[in-house]
Amino acid sequence: MHILGIETSCDETAAAVVKDGRTVLSSTVASQIKFHSPYSGVVPELASRAHVVSVNAVIEEALKKAKVKRVDAIAVTIGPGLVGSLLVGKMTAEAMGWVRGVPVVGTNHIEGHLLSPLLSDPSLKPPFLGLVVSGGHTELILAESFGRYELLGRTRDDAAGEAFDKVAKMMNLGYPGGPVIDRLARRGKASRSPFPHPWLANSWDFSFSGLKTAVLYKWREKKRWSQRERMDVCAGFQRSVVDVLVGKTLAAARALKLKRIVVGGGVAANSLLRSEFDRLSRKQGVRVTLAPPALCTDNAAMIASAAHFRLRAGGASRPHVLKIEPQLHIPFTRRKMPPFRLAHQ
Ligand code: KG4
Ligand code: ZN
Repeated sequence: MHILGIETSCDETAAAVVKDGRTVLSSTVASQIKFHSPYSGVVPELASRAHVVSVNAVIEEALKKAKVKRVDAIAVTIGPGLVGSLLVGKMTAEAMGWVRGVPVVGTNHIEGHLLSPLLSDPSLKPPFLGLVVSGGHTELILAESFGRYELLGRTRDDAAGEAFDKVAKMMNLGYPGGPVIDRLARRGKASRSPFPHPWLANSWDFSFSGLKTAVLYKWREKKRWSQRERMDVCAGFQRSVVDVLVGKTLAAARALKLKRIVVGGGVAANSLLRSEFDRLSRKQGVRVTLAPPALCTDNAAMIASAAHFRLRAGGASRPHVLKIEPQLHIPFTRRKMPPFRLAHQ
């Protein structure tokens, strides 16, 4: 089955064709970074206008690259995201579905990130523990089967990627902040600029706004910073975020006796996060699959793939004109968990 995916939930206009949920035939992304970087963040109105301008060309390119004439279904992100941006994708998908006479499947963006590691490993399927870490989300999820998800913990304030972006903004490093901090941190030393680790004892939730404020106070201590000191601050901040994300995810796997973990979302591209998951999961005897680096940040291949598994599980067979409303959240139920404990506690 060939599915055309369309993703316009935030600041990337993306389209992709995926075969049988696992093989990416094409994945095209038109980035809007140049429109938003003067503001160090996404401006919703600019985002929806840019989607209108580029969505058709991006879809055409994805179909051309995939060399397919016909698709069996169209998958489109219906949320969470910016309402104006979501509407551009939804209306485009509905119009195409009607003209081509194929079903349109409304797909949740977080489910797309959660299932994106399936594009790294053809044998991977639920049950598994999933960590979704992006600019808008930090969620620890138990995926029991396709479509059956329980929330274990989520951020109470800033998402992990948002913390990277805000710290980069205060240090004048540019937007988006994650890749810049990742690059600078590689040449810095965290121990020369340590920051508190926001473990949130007794909870499976996350919180990154206090850490961000700690960086702000540190940053205000001096007017001039050498390049080496800057790199150390980046390394110290990144180390705290990564230790908490990796430590809590592995603790949840121990608490639930799960041996498989998947990680998706823009922050899953972080080099320290990838190497720490690799190192510590070996010690614990669990297998961690990260989304392919090119499919960590927003893309439409993950949307087409998630729709395939939903359709196959029988949860999303739909007519070609949908009444899909933008979904501003994913409807999770909270799982009752044993208390959170770190390995060394
Ligand atoms: O998944 P995504 O494209 O958008 C959302 O769904 O939010 O994630 C974008 C986020 C941004 O906050 C960006 O700074 C972060 O992912 N990011 C990274 C890295 N690459 C992207 N954060 C840390 N390290 C990276 N290498
Ligand atoms: Zn995303």
